[in-house]
Amino acid sequence: MQNRLVTNSDNAALNQATIEIDLTRLPKHIAIIMDGNGRWARAKGYIRSLGHENGVDALRRIATASAELGIEYLTVYAFSTENWKRPKTEVKALMSILVKALRKELSTLLDNNIRLQAIGDILLLPEDIQKQLKEVIALTAKGSRMALTLALSYSSKEEILRATRLLAEDVRKGLLLPENITEQVFENYLYTRGMPHPDLLIRTSGEYRISNYLLWQLAYTELYFSPKLWPDFTKEDLLLAIAEYQKRERRFGLISEQLNENS
Ligand code: IPE
Ligand code: IPE
Ligand code: MG
Repeated sequence: MQNRLVTNSDNAALNQATIEIDLTRLPKHIAIIMDGNGRWARAKGYIRSLGHENGVDALRRIATASAELGIEYLTVYAFSTENWKRPKTEVKALMSILVKALRKELSTLLDNNIRLQAIGDILLLPEDIQKQLKEVIALTAKGSRMALTLALSYSSKEEILRATRLLAEDVRKGLLLPENITEQVFENYLYTRGMPHPDLLIRTSGEYRISNYLLWQLAYTELYFSPKLWPDFTKEDLLLAIAEYQKRERRFGLISEQLNENS
């Protein structure tokens, strides 16, 4: 197996720089805040929903590239709980783009052996989307190359509160003792149960914030911020993020020397 992937970037600013990544040290789980669709559209004089439509193309590109590289989990922020407060017309357009994308991209998921999952307060979504989502999740459940998780109607604080409520309920029923609530036990009540924590978080559009995304799960994640607007994000941009991730030393609270001892 070839362990290094070397590619020429077509990013003008990089002047055909070479991006080199080590395929044996890939992040297992990448989380993305796909931001900047609206500004992308505005800059071109389009309506915002056209930005979201082009955002779907970017997601297809990045999901297939990730699966081809060998990334096992890709978790993308597609719609936040707070996004429900956007103008009604935008929410409606987003929902219609989502249902269309679920229908259209089933073959992309199957062809690439990707299983679809969803996290968030799914019951708040329109019924046709819930139905479509369930269908695609069931039809792709055997996809063993990569899990693509859509965070939909998702808020991390809501996820943590929900977990706390479910946990409290189990304590009340006598199924669990408060002194036995460990990190591992708590994680079983999160939407992301059974998934590893993200190794790398990418946020596009030059914003430097987490916006209520995976607050618990990102505790030791490497953060990467790209100035690119999401519809412009390419495979090369993904490789740049991975190359930067591979330069970082993840210490998890330890000191460098301890890490070298263990390796
Ligand atoms: C991200 O793009 C997609 C969603 C939040 C649904 P935005 O719609 O936030 O685009 P900007 O940030 O306004 O440019
Ligand atoms: C975060 O982007 C949510 C998604 C990408 C779906 P927002 O555009 O909603 O976040 P803020 O408002 O800039 O923090
Ligand atoms: Mg935004």
